[in-house]
Amino acid sequence: MDVFLRKSNPAARATGVLAVGVAEGSGKLSGAAQSLDRSTRGAVSAVLATGDFKGKHLETALIYPEGVKAKRVLLVGLGPQKTITPQRVLAVAATAARRARELGAETLAMALHTGATLDVATASAAAEGAVLGHYRHTAYKSDAKPPLDRIELLSPGAATPRLATAVASGELRGEATCLARDLANTPGQDLVPEQLAERAVEIARTVGATAQVLDVPAMERLGMGCVLAVGRGSAHAPRFVVLEAAPTSKPRRGGRVPTVVVIGKGVTFDTGGYSLKPREGMSKMKYDMSGAAAVLGLFASLPTLDLPFKLVGLIPSAENMVNSRALKPGDVVRALDGTTIEVTNTDAEGRLLLADALGYAKRYKPDAVVNLATLTGAISVALGRACAGLFTRDDAFAAELTQAGESVGERLWRMPLWDDYLVEMKGDTADLLNSSERREGAACTAAAFLEHFAKGMRWAHLDIASTAWTYADRGEYTRGANAFGSRLLVKWLEGVAAR
Ligand code: BES
Ligand code: MN
Ligand code: ZN
Repeated sequence: MDVFLRKSNPAARATGVLAVGVAEGSGKLSGAAQSLDRSTRGAVSAVLATGDFKGKHLETALIYPEGVKAKRVLLVGLGPQKTITPQRVLAVAATAARRARELGAETLAMALHTGATLDVATASAAAEGAVLGHYRHTAYKSDAKPPLDRIELLSPGAATPRLATAVASGELRGEATCLARDLANTPGQDLVPEQLAERAVEIARTVGATAQVLDVPAMERLGMGCVLAVGRGSAHAPRFVVLEAAPTSKPRRGGRVPTVVVIGKGVTFDTGGYSLKPREGMSKMKYDMSGAAAVLGLFASLPTLDLPFKLVGLIPSAENMVNSRALKPGDVVRALDGTTIEVTNTDAEGRLLLADALGYAKRYKPDAVVNLATLTGAISVALGRACAGLFTRDDAFAAELTQAGESVGERLWRMPLWDDYLVEMKGDTADLLNSSERREGAACTAAAFLEHFAKGMRWAHLDIASTAWTYADRGEYTRGANAFGSRLLVKWLEGVAAR
């Protein structure tokens, strides 16, 4: 969806929906709301006076005032003036775009500034939010609401090149996340590991990154026993994708080029294997590659980033199925780093894939490694759906990631990593068990298992099983798989690049 920047008075713009941001409770209107109020002889003030609409964040009111060229006006609450951030504007733009699409409008013009001018951060956020809120996974729907023809962001001042660049960058980031969402929403039948790998190669090609896809013989040569074991029960063979993007600017400190590795769990469907999932638990398992989707969303966003370090994306991908060759409880597999693992539960397959990926990450001697995975149902039991679990021993790293997540509306909550959890993962037959005998603290024992393979690296694990699916539309979140983590990674790397 293209987003255009245009200098215009809100009332003067002919459009299907004119969305105007209204700050809450200031007593006096400002920016676009004030301008609209003047053009309509007090239509905004009149609505506020009824008390039906107060300007609370994401609150909406549809009105049909005189004095505007638009067919209808959608007032969208920005919340109290002092709480307005680019992220809040992003959610407002998303709400406007979603509503405009639901209304069957062809065009949307958004006027969201509360000051005399539109700033760069707001412009970018508005464009990104509009793209995200407009998103629907329509590939399989015959009666989907058609997309809007056009979205515009109205600027009270000149549409400067700086503002236009910000809008283009926001739009591209929005599209990148939508692409990742589409992947995660695609049924397992239509996105098997081979296809996920193909999509990764395409994305890499568009952004000028390199992609290498390891097939079964290549993984056998390397000794990736875990990925191979998880993929063994499927007619669709596993893949291991390696994406690399060279630095786009000079590293701050001379000498060695720093490297950041991001890893995403790419289980294209998770039946649980012989430790079969119950039917309710299985129904949505097409999105068990949401970690991989987030990594691909980040790579698709690369044109908007200027990174003074090398970025590596690793996607171990398999379909967790059953056949006569499939992994069985009690089988022992050998990870890339030589660790032997007794598979006590074939449904704990994500950590097996990540074990090999973490082993592979070591060859880069990375400065930081983040893995994202829909790893455990237990993380939702612990945290609900309000945030994802963050596991790392490194306080500064935890703070960086939490801060990045906070600023893009992808909340993280720190979880413990203690040696006690690893004790539970030790067995008699092999070096490690892939699943503890106890159910308690399953998100933590999973993280402890991963930490064994991340030893020596600055590493963080995000368990996104609690957040990667949206159950009700809100702001930039649309029902279905949401590619949680993609925007967080972009924001985090932007910060790393600036430090
Ligand atoms: N993909 C699941 C985790 C999951 C559950 C993601 C619900 C999204 C929603 C993962 O592979 C899994 O099955 N984990 C097991 C771990 C257990 C066997 C220790 C789980 O959570 O039950
Ligand atoms: Mn599983
Ligand atoms: Zn899984």
